[in-house]
Amino acid sequence: MRIGILGSGLMGGKLGTIFARAGHDVVFSYSRSEKKLERLAKSAGRHALAGTPREAAQGADALLLAVHWSRLDDVFEQAGDLSGKVIVSCTLPMNENNSDLVVAHTSSGAEELARRIPAPRVVGAFGTVPSEVLFDVFERRRRRERPSLLYYGDDRRAKKVAASLIADVGFDPVDAGPLRIARYAEPFTLLVAELAYERKGGPRLAYRFERFR
Ligand SMILES: NC(=O)c1ccc[n+]([C@@H]2O[C@H](COP(=O)([O-])OP(=O)(O)OC[C@H]3O[C@@H](n4cnc5c(N)ncnc54)[C@H](OP(=O)(O)O)[C@@H]3O)[C@@H](O)[C@H]2O)c1
Repeated sequence: MRIGILGSGLMGGKLGTIFARAGHDVVFSYSRSEKKLERLAKSAGRHALAGTPREAAQGADALLLAVHWSRLDDVFEQAGDLSGKVIVSCTLPMNENNSDLVVAHTSSGAEELARRIPAPRVVGAFGTVPSEVLFDVFERRRRRERPSLLYYGDDRRAKKVAASLIADVGFDPVDAGPLRIARYAEPFTLLVAELAYERKGGPRLAYRFERFR
């Protein structure tokens, strides 16, 4: 697949690198430093390029949205028309100092995001794990027991794309249902962050759901 990365920071930089290593064509975009985008593309290998958000969006089979909530209007303006595009978003509706959700309970970041795009194909994914664990998961992808990763959305085709990317990273994709499930998943992310950054053990942390029959 051709994947455009909108926001090449901790999440976008790592996920884009993993997607490229998994064989996808990746365009890194939306950093304040063009040099950083070029460095990322170079280290991700021959499947990766640096570009503008518009270039990342053009012809992309999927876009990874990985920006701070406050940057949404700007990144959308730079990316151009995103109607009908598959957007896999790890973006959380956090306040400026990342201490709390600014949308919760009666809506979610993922739903608000979908409202801003005509014909939205938004899937929430990857936001429930810390960036620090992503390379560990990728390195251990051949192990039988994989960590889970929740995803949610209203568009079947977009969810299929998201599930295959999640599996490429090394997670077991867990379909949590429609986009409104983000109302539960986004607060769960704050619990994961609490465990990762405030409790003992460090942020190389993932989770696993088990069903007993
Ligand atoms: N980090 C995590 O572990 C984690 C986990 C789950 C969910 N999330 C969510 O994922 C999203 C991305 O998080 P992140 O940690 O990857 O963020 P980040 O490291 O700050 O990356 C954000 C990207 O946006 C870019 N950007 C472009 N213009 C900007 C501007 N004017 N001001 C600020 N940034 C600008 C940054 O540029 P530069 O390259 O110049 O910095 C960077 O490439 C957020 O919504 C966050 O809540 C993060």
